Amino acid sequence: MDTKHVHAALVLLIALTSATTAVADGSDGGGTLGASYIFGDSLVDAGNNNFLPTLSKANIKPNGIDFKPSGGKPTGRYTNGRTIGDIVGEELGQQHYAMPFLDPNTTGEVILYGVNYASGGGGIMNATGQIFVNRLSMDIQIDYFNITRKQIDKLLGASKAREHIMKKSIFSITIGSNDFLNNYLLPVLSIGARVSESPDGFVDDLISHIRSQLTRLYQLDARKFIIGNVGPIGCIPYQRTINQLNENECVALPNKLALQYNAKLKDLVAQLNDNLPGATFVHANVYDLVMELITNYDKYGFKTASKACCGNGGQYAGIIPCGPTSSLCEDRDKHVFWDPYHPSEAANVIIAKQLLQGDPKYVSPMGLKELRDLGL
Ligand SMILES: *[C@@H]1O[C@H](CO)[C@@H](O)[C@H](O)[C@H]1NC(C)=O
Ligand SMILES: *[C@@H]1O[C@H](CO)[C@@H](O)[C@H](O)[C@H]1NC(C)=O
Ligand SMILES: *[C@@H]1O[C@H](CO)[C@@H](O)[C@H](O)[C@H]1NC(C)=O
Repeated sequence: MDTKHVHAALVLLIALTSATTAVADGSDGGGTLGASYIFGDSLVDAGNNNFLPTLSKANIKPNGIDFKPSGGKPTGRYTNGRTIGDIVGEELGQQHYAMPFLDPNTTGEVILYGVNYASGGGGIMNATGQIFVNRLSMDIQIDYFNITRKQIDKLLGASKAREHIMKKSIFSITIGSNDFLNNYLLPVLSIGARVSESPDGFVDDLISHIRSQLTRLYQLDARKFIIGNVGPIGCIPYQRTINQLNENECVALPNKLALQYNAKLKDLVAQLNDNLPGATFVHANVYDLVMELITNYDKYGFKTASKACCGNGGQYAGIIPCGPTSSLCEDRDKHVFWDPYHPSEAANVIIAKQLLQGDPKYVSPMGLKELRDLGL
């Protein structure tokens, strides 16, 4: 192409892009997402644990300090601002954040924009997170979606409800970290699991449970899924602190277990794509994505990927969870980690962007924008 043609093509492209942006509600010129139904643990909990008698809580200051809709008040999110689930929903043109299932205000039409079932401390296995006394594990979260499912039938009628769930809703699952951190790797509480099970046996158990959990969601008409794998849990400030690591080092065993599970999860996702007709399972490689952020943090504008912004104890403020008496950094958007366990909003924004855009290294077989528009 000569320069003139390139120029003409560019003008046309810009014209097309702005035309679609102008007519659509979505921020990217595509459609709008009807709903997101969010399952998982504290990485995506939007406040369910506020309504549980549990030791795992985030509805204390300064959590939520950068969350605009609450004016900086804590909401139960385990980060300073929005979770990955919030950001992805916004970017896909969802009109209302998915509200926590346990919130008494989550009734009526608001459930048509999505519901959040995620719970701090929750895992694939029922026994995971016992250390917190209470949490919603995956089996229960799906029981709750079964309740929502019937409410959607009532609101829309059976046939429109099915269409809403199958075509206009994305089901995201962010679970598994606690099955290691707060089950298998806990010396005392997991006596059952760890003494009697090899790592291979435990990982196989996790995979067989999550297989039936995802199949149950399919039976309830879920068709568009995104499944995150387990991140580099050996690199979180908590692990770096209790193991007294040097800056830029990670603990080997938790990462090794995560990788073992992740390899089998990837196979499972491929099998489900083959075996469940009409369903699309997108695999999110959270491990590599977060590892990239941690390794090359300076490239993304961060100052540290070791030290928690909010927390106390040891070199990386990684022992005591974030609360009113924690030390709090001033440059929250320069920290990959908000607290000893969870990424900051700044990190969540980068992770969410990758999931939406669809670099096949991190999200396959397609990104979330494509998933949203599938079959519409
Ligand atoms: C539910 O909504 C009402 C009215 O907006 C509000 O006053 C109340 O605090 C909400 N309840 C919860 C648990 O958020
Ligand atoms: C976990 O708990 C749920 C709900 O109480 C129950 O239905 C399920 O069978 C339990 N799963 C296992 C493996 O014990
Ligand atoms: C949903 O709940 C009904 C009972 O109301 C039950 O018969 C059905 O098996 C449940 N479905 C799933 C997938 O859990």
